[in-house]
Amino acid sequence: MRILVLHGVNLNMFGKRDPSQYGTATLADIDAALKKLAKELDVTVECFQTNHEGEMVERIHKALGEGINAVVINAGAWTHYSYALADALAILPVPVVEVHMSNVHAREAFRHHSVLAPVCAGSVCGFGVESYLLGLRAAQTLVIKDAK
Ligand code: DQA
Repeated sequence: MRILVLHGVNLNMFGKRDPSQYGTATLADIDAALKKLAKELDVTVECFQTNHEGEMVERIHKALGEGINAVVINAGAWTHYSYALADALAILPVPVVEVHMSNVHAREAFRHHSVLAPVCAGSVCGFGVESYLLGLRAAQTLVIKDAK
């Protein structure tokens, strides 16, 4: 099983960015924790980060022909306004799980709405790095359930 993990805008700054919201783990730490869990779950994980919306859209398009079984995405601020990303994710015939490090519902009003949510199977937020790990478990569960 192949799961693509997508990190959006500004997420390369985890570790240096507002530790009261995002903790001190770097993106490399997060990717390492995902790879470790992937090994335990016997899934293959590929991680990708970009600060360019078009590049993210193109990575999602590329996933179509790659035999990706599910996507886990933290789109950062794009979550709240990028219809381009929502449209790109909607093209994929596989489950998409939305994740956030912080509890977006306990923060500013603009973070309460996700334009990606309608094209996602569900979302996990507020648990720091654990949000990604729970998201990976959820994605695997969805793929297994779908295969039955
Ligand atoms: C975030 C939450 C977003 O609102 C914010 O713009 C981010 C990070 C999170 O992981 O908590 O960049 O996606």
